[in-house]
Amino acid sequence: MNILAFIGRRLLAIRPMSKRNPTFVCQNCGAAFSRWQGKCEACGEWNTLSAEGAERQAGPGRKPGKGRLFALEPLAGEAQEAPRLPAGIAEFDRVTGGGFVRGSVLLVGGDPGIGKSTLLIQATASLARAGHRTVYISGEEAVAQVRLRAERLGLRESAVELAAETAIEDIIATLSEGKTPRLIVIDSIQTMWTDTVESAPGTVSQVRGSAQALIRFAKRSGAAIILVGHVTKDGQIAGPRVVEHMVDAVLSFEGEGSHQFRILRAVKNRFGPTDEIGVFEMTGSGLREVPNPSELFLSERDLGQPGTAVFAGIEGTRPLLVEIQALVAPTSLGTPRRAVVGWDPSRLSMVLAVLEAHCGVRLGGHDVYLNVAGGMRIQEPAGDLAAAAALVSSLANAPLPADGVYFGEVSLSGAVRPVAQGAARLKEAAKLGFNRAVAPEAARAETAEPGLKVMDVTSLATLVADIASRAKASMAARTVGQNQ
Ligand code: TYD
Ligand code: MG
Repeated sequence: MNILAFIGRRLLAIRPMSKRNPTFVCQNCGAAFSRWQGKCEACGEWNTLSAEGAERQAGPGRKPGKGRLFALEPLAGEAQEAPRLPAGIAEFDRVTGGGFVRGSVLLVGGDPGIGKSTLLIQATASLARAGHRTVYISGEEAVAQVRLRAERLGLRESAVELAAETAIEDIIATLSEGKTPRLIVIDSIQTMWTDTVESAPGTVSQVRGSAQALIRFAKRSGAAIILVGHVTKDGQIAGPRVVEHMVDAVLSFEGEGSHQFRILRAVKNRFGPTDEIGVFEMTGSGLREVPNPSELFLSERDLGQPGTAVFAGIEGTRPLLVEIQALVAPTSLGTPRRAVVGWDPSRLSMVLAVLEAHCGVRLGGHDVYLNVAGGMRIQEPAGDLAAAAALVSSLANAPLPADGVYFGEVSLSGAVRPVAQGAARLKEAAKLGFNRAVAPEAARAETAEPGLKVMDVTSLATLVADIASRAKASMAARTVGQNQ
């Protein structure tokens, strides 16, 4: 036989087959590969690739090459203000930017057991109370379980409509009937499955396919949809990461297991701010709003202990005071330990380096631990000065004044740089009864708070010298006390 004809026939035989071959999709990041491998080259995770069938074309049988014509609109047209529907829970509305936008899809992510279902049943009940049609679809719990939780929350009589369903096509068909619901909760997206995708529920393609179908439904009907997504580390269940870029907003619900408070944070928001937080407290009867979080975060303060400093921070538009705790102790290890909770470890390294290089503080032989009290996470650089104050206070064994707050960014040269919203920080400190603030130079001009003394520092070395003199004074007082 002619060799070319043979190869040609082989190629014809192979082509259609390769189309049906499964793709291997990383369950962690969603990257697709043509063959199985132990490590995902995209995200570096091991054993996360699993075979998934190709997605069928979702659109109605279109002929290739033929497109539908649509009208193009001028950018300068009328901009409609997004119609919003406030949840009636102030801390929730603050994070979404004033309520749920019609036709938008929101993803609420968080560890299992953090309180996502609790928050969302409370939100749907609140909307139902205001007379809106709301639907809660649970793919994880039976209707009776959801009812039981609602009973515990005192929402037994609420007009929320419930279902325990996982088939996306059935859900959309049901929701298309009757009056369009204003809010639909899908708890959770990982349990949903759609006929248009061949792989098993919980895989990346299923999660993506189900989310796509729900997003299409939201845009078409004008209902707002909240998708719940579990974040798991082991990659067994497809993380909601693949859905993040498809939805309009991503909120993360965070908290420490040992603390009662929970923080709702906007990670992405097409219709609102991304730096606002909502603070809740988990109680025996559901989530309670915390309108003044500073009071909560400072409620269990160790007054007069060395190594603690109060940081006057800003979360979005809201000032927030939190306590930073440091422990500096001589090390028994060759390489001293640096452990940090609630703050960026690389910022800690930077502050330690500046203390060594510019302030003569030797920390090479000390273990350093830093903790932000109450499970808060500080992200702004303005926390540098408070962290440095706590570290030096612990090292010198000199308590900082209990009525003082600290904020300011430390630069690599050891200078203390101004930060945004100084006035708001000082106002919150004055409101909570603080009498002094150690802050960058610019802050003094910004405020006229009576009863609050602003001590400006231009360099970290000034602050260190101040704390060192305090240490000497308290040592002298102690010696005098002992001699008497
Ligand atoms: P849940 O909303 O089921 O979490 P998720 O949906 O994020 O998995 O909340 C589960 C936890 O919350 C559970 O450990 C019990 C606690 N909880 C309370 O402390 N008080 C309450 O009123 C409710 C409903 C739950
Ligand atoms: Mg749940």
